[in-house]
Amino acid sequence: MINDIIKNYEWTPDPRWDNQILTYDRKKFNWAEQVLEVVRELRPRLDSLENTHLYFTSSELVTLRQHLEKFTNSRHFSVQIDEFFYEYVKPLVKCDDYLVQKTSGIRLVVPEQEKLGRLLSFHTGYWTGYSNDMGTVWTPLSRAFDSNTMQVVSWEDSKKIMKRIHLEKLSIDMIQQLCAECMQPVEIEVGQSWLFNQGHLYGNINNTTGISRVSFDTRYALPNGVFGPRRVGGFFRLQHTHAELDRSKIQPGSWVVFVDQNSEYIGNIPHYVVREFLMQTTKALNIKVLEWSNEYWGCTWMPKLLDFVNKTTLNGLVLPSIHAFSGDVDLRMSMFKTAISNGQQLLFVDEQILISTVSELSLLDKLYSIGN
Ligand SMILES: [Fe+2]
Repeated sequence: MINDIIKNYEWTPDPRWDNQILTYDRKKFNWAEQVLEVVRELRPRLDSLENTHLYFTSSELVTLRQHLEKFTNSRHFSVQIDEFFYEYVKPLVKCDDYLVQKTSGIRLVVPEQEKLGRLLSFHTGYWTGYSNDMGTVWTPLSRAFDSNTMQVVSWEDSKKIMKRIHLEKLSIDMIQQLCAECMQPVEIEVGQSWLFNQGHLYGNINNTTGISRVSFDTRYALPNGVFGPRRVGGFFRLQHTHAELDRSKIQPGSWVVFVDQNSEYIGNIPHYVVREFLMQTTKALNIKVLEWSNEYWGCTWMPKLLDFVNKTTLNGLVLPSIHAFSGDVDLRMSMFKTAISNGQQLLFVDEQILISTVSELSLLDKLYSIGN
């Protein structure tokens, strides 16, 4: 479906996710207050999220977003999201064992953001790697109205416009113009969320309200659905798990950074790009790296990985992802077991999963059984 975007529209949207409002208990889920406190860690004098633009320059907004997404990635926030989903989203999803977006995305829309080059133009979830097996919960944390809020297009209009965009290969300006003709602002209160499908066109226009809008978005995904680049374990987590790595559990000693270049996950990315990403992670986690290594090209039976997992002198392996292997799941799992029995730990960076015992491997089994 990723390669044929328009084919995604041969689908009848679930009316419960067709631009609908959800109202939740904002005392129980007091995210607006919590997020304000997290922003205050950087700017203690900030009194309201609406004034965010007065305390951060445009170039500091990226740092603020990263700071806030550390919060949405935390165990604390993940537990709340699970509760929220259980209470409000589960009745609107076709199955009980849905997955949840690991890190809710934070959006910061400051006044006159177009001049700053920060305008999020109209797009669909299909363009950003999502499928019809997923739904978005968009939640404002400050007043969302008029031009500071998200603008949405109906399913029927989205379908028509998207067909035209792809047929006529339209520019961003044209897309923006077509959407502006039929968009509507999402004017909901703090304490409400907006639910939509991945085929809906949505985006922002220039914010002339004079105040900042802060919001976050979290998706669910159906197990065994189409995941595309939004992989199981990496982008979507199981309910009641979280992505916050417990650094105190990482054992000291010598670790190896290992990449299987034959895996679809790695593809043709230059070796050093992946390696540098992993090395940065080890640096941040204070992991002492003995060396880095790649699997041999064409050797999908993973002989080099087998050699490493058999070493009793190694303390751990840093690996890009649970999906970054060319050998099948049985082969991987048997090698992971060997590594653990030799006293090694396995750190999967994309998923932020640290495996120290054989029983913890059941989490990987579960993730593999769900999808790519
Ligand atoms: Fe988006």
